[in-house]
Amino acid sequence: MRYPTPKGIAARFASILLLVPLYVHANDGETLMQKGGANPAALPCITCHGADGKGMAAAGFPRLAGLPEAYIAKQLADFRAGRRENPVMQPIAQSLSDEEIAAVAKAYAARPKVNVKPAAAGERPQPGSGAWLALRGAWERNIPECTLCHGPSGVGVGSAFPPLAGQGAEYIEAQLQAWRGTRAVPATKKTKAVAAVPPTRRNDPNGLMQHIAADLSEAEIKAVAAYFAGLGESPEAFDESQHRLR
Ligand code: HEC
Ligand code: HEC
Repeated sequence: MRYPTPKGIAARFASILLLVPLYVHANDGETLMQKGGANPAALPCITCHGADGKGMAAAGFPRLAGLPEAYIAKQLADFRAGRRENPVMQPIAQSLSDEEIAAVAKAYAARPKVNVKPAAAGERPQPGSGAWLALRGAWERNIPECTLCHGPSGVGVGSAFPPLAGQGAEYIEAQLQAWRGTRAVPATKKTKAVAAVPPTRRNDPNGLMQHIAADLSEAEIKAVAAYFAGLGESPEAFDESQHRLR
């Protein structure tokens, strides 16, 4: 048996040190956002979710900055498992490792949360408007106000209820449509039958969102999406006490 020389030990130690940055890379959420995962199919997140993580509203790419860590990790697991179908995100989620998902979820959650300017005193929603649905709901049809679960001004609550404020109208609409699917339309003398499309998002605990989405009209979906998309970001830092449920 040969004992390593001090020079040999030094060389081995140096090679271990060289490996350290590689290890850090794979688990560093910030690097993952900018450069993508170890598998090249895990494209850099910033390409679509923006350099600041605030998404690209016009393209329908959602904001990830400030979303709850557990919510982000859950969505990536849902895309992987096919409980949430999407041709763009499914292959990306499938090519991220568990460690990469944990790291990127943590890094996005650490970015600033969306904050909303408080409503002006005396501002009242108009019955039937998007604001009315968001703040009052339609209890006669068992639809609670969105802010009951998504927090005052839709800034999100805890790790299960994501913010709606700060998301684009296109994205909000697309999610409601994904939960709802489309009903079959029977053929008439003039038109062909349209087959039902089952919901493509089936990941909501207890079907909370599927029930709500199914009972909203097309016009209501558009109105409530426009309301949350239009809330506008407050330049002030997020202050939990301002958004406590009352
Ligand atoms: C090529 C564009 C593209 C890239 C690159 C991309 N995404 Fe996405 N991402 C999307 C789209 C589009 C959606 C909306 C999918 C839907 O409608 O269900 C989305 C949705 C998501 C969601 C769900 C957000 C929510 O509010 O529920 C998460 C989480 C997410 N992406 C994480 C990532 C991460 C992490 C990366 C980088 C490893 C990444 N994405 C890279 C396009 C992209
Ligand atoms: C009873 C509680 C509850 C109510 C009321 C509620 N939601 Fe949700 N909503 C949820 C939960 C839970 C999720 C997260 C589901 C998941 O894990 O993917 C969610 C997610 C969403 C998402 C997806 C956000 C994202 O980032 O992908 C949208 C859009 C949404 N809700 C819109 C609405 C609207 C609009 C209303 C009011 C008409 C509403 N919600 C009312 C519980 C609720």
